[in-house]
Amino acid sequence: MVRYSEDLIEEIRNSNDIVDVISQYVILKRSGRNFFGLCPFHKEKSPSFSVSPDKQIFHCFGCGVGGNVIHFVSKIENLDFRETLELLANRANISLPTLDNSYQDNKKAILKSKVYEINEIAAKFYHENLYKPSSKEAQEYIKKRKLDNRTLKSFLIGYSGTFDELFKLLKSKGYTEEEILASSLVNKADNGAFIDRFRRRLMIPIQDATGKFIAFGGRVLDDSKPKYINSPENIVYSKGRNLFGLNVAKKGDTKKIIIVEGYMDAISLYQRGITNVVASLGTALTEQQGRLLRKNSEQIIIGYDADGAGQAATLRGMDILQNMGCDIRVLQIYGAKDPDEFVIKYGPERFEKCVDSAISLVEFKVRILKQNLNLDNVNDKIKFLNETAKILARVDNSIEQEVYIEKISKEYDISKEAIYGEVNKIKYSKTSEKKVLERAPIKSYLKKENIEKLDESIIKREKMVIYILLNYPKESFEKIKDIITEEEIKGKLNKKIISKIYDNYEKKKQVNILDSFEEEDIINYLSGILAEDFEIADINKCIEDLLNIYNKEKLINERNNILKQLENAENLNNAEIHALEQKLNDIILHLAKVK
Ligand code: UTP
Ligand code: MN
Repeated sequence: MVRYSEDLIEEIRNSNDIVDVISQYVILKRSGRNFFGLCPFHKEKSPSFSVSPDKQIFHCFGCGVGGNVIHFVSKIENLDFRETLELLANRANISLPTLDNSYQDNKKAILKSKVYEINEIAAKFYHENLYKPSSKEAQEYIKKRKLDNRTLKSFLIGYSGTFDELFKLLKSKGYTEEEILASSLVNKADNGAFIDRFRRRLMIPIQDATGKFIAFGGRVLDDSKPKYINSPENIVYSKGRNLFGLNVAKKGDTKKIIIVEGYMDAISLYQRGITNVVASLGTALTEQQGRLLRKNSEQIIIGYDADGAGQAATLRGMDILQNMGCDIRVLQIYGAKDPDEFVIKYGPERFEKCVDSAISLVEFKVRILKQNLNLDNVNDKIKFLNETAKILARVDNSIEQEVYIEKISKEYDISKEAIYGEVNKIKYSKTSEKKVLERAPIKSYLKKENIEKLDESIIKREKMVIYILLNYPKESFEKIKDIITEEEIKGKLNKKIISKIYDNYEKKKQVNILDSFEEEDIINYLSGILAEDFEIADINKCIEDLLNIYNKEKLINERNNILKQLENAENLNNAEIHALEQKLNDIILHLAKVK
């Protein structure tokens, strides 16, 4: 990976105080040495998101996310590492290196900016082409889709030409073949010829949130397949990180944002005055897209197609959005397969009405459940009740829960008592399950791989070793490294972290440990250790105690080994037995000392 130098990264981090930066996004209150607030990465009512000015880290004890200021900004702004550094450097008025000392970085940045230019030139070229007499077919299609001129201009919708028209244009403007190919708008054939990727298609430019042209969707004018060809992912385009129409939607009121499946849905709604619409880019909703939505609006309304695929996508998208703490609704439209058809058929007023009465996640889930069951059948009814109770049990606000129970009772003709009964059953078993989990050593990282059945105290102890090595390297490293070796460490993540700490130390690398990792789960986990308060009063005493524990354990293991051998003494001769007994004595003496 091409990166800025460690020193520069350090300088950028040091110039951006984590409390200052996070305060721009989260209301923080001081409590003791730390600051607390509501976690911006998951939904919560009481603050478990902590920021430490001393350690310059953040960590949420609720969802487990954490890291340093770079990780925070990258997550919340949805930026990659490099972009995050640029933002933070800019914030601190630090100028970033130019060509000489960061040649690779700059080469990439230059190529990127060329590709943005190329995309914009292409968008304008396609758009102008749409109005030419030779584009009659496309103009008729536009008419058929009832798109008006203002809409064509707002989205810069166009029509792609034949063979290599765009390639020639770009060449004539002086772009190199490398730059043109990097835009993915032109392909190079085996025989070396250059051919435009998009030919005779209705062109829909895709812009990022700031309006830069990053990709295209190209629709056929008839029913042939594939319906759309899209730009592949490239140096400027990542479909999971963008939403179609966001730049346009952002110009208007986005208190609510409607997310639809198709470009055409977004465009068609926009034309009819519903401008707070974005479309996902032919993929299931991603977390990054979720963050983009959450950043730009208060409520997200999922308006996917009414078919099975749309419903499945809705369910997946909802889970992502809900976990991020978004207020979500689901649009219900009847009499049309998608928002485009609906708004054409029934008009924008009726569509707005649907938006206003969009249902909650719970209601949506219950509705889906109902679709596949026949409530006149007793078994189905029981199943419906059980599954509904599961959905309801996940609602933690009891007033909200009550409202739903009331509604469901009426709508599906099931007594409230029956529903309450089932919900409480689940809730009760849930709380006992939760209690067990809360007692677990690392409650915020309950990922499967971490719940190895390891003794809680061992994990805790290892975390303390990590904490000490990182916070008191001078006092601890030389003493610890030979006794608490990597092999001694049982926790999987602990092992990875300690190995990296030793490695950095051996190589005299002065890096911030959180920057040593790229894996999100490790960064989150490590920030948890750093954020923990181990209440170390006397560091030397503390190290001594730890070493004693490890030494003692080694001795006990050795002792047990010998005892085992002595138990099976039939195969040993007297001399061997004697040697073992001698060893055992030594160990026991040793053990007495370490106590
Ligand atoms: P739709 O088939 O619903 O497309 O696919 P649409 O935009 O509503 O187009 P019309 O109304 O039929 O003209 C939803 C989205 O899935 C992606 C596109 O992003 C599309 O907008 N898609 C669909 C593709 O990428 N390729 C395809 O072949 C089909
Ligand atoms: Mn459609």
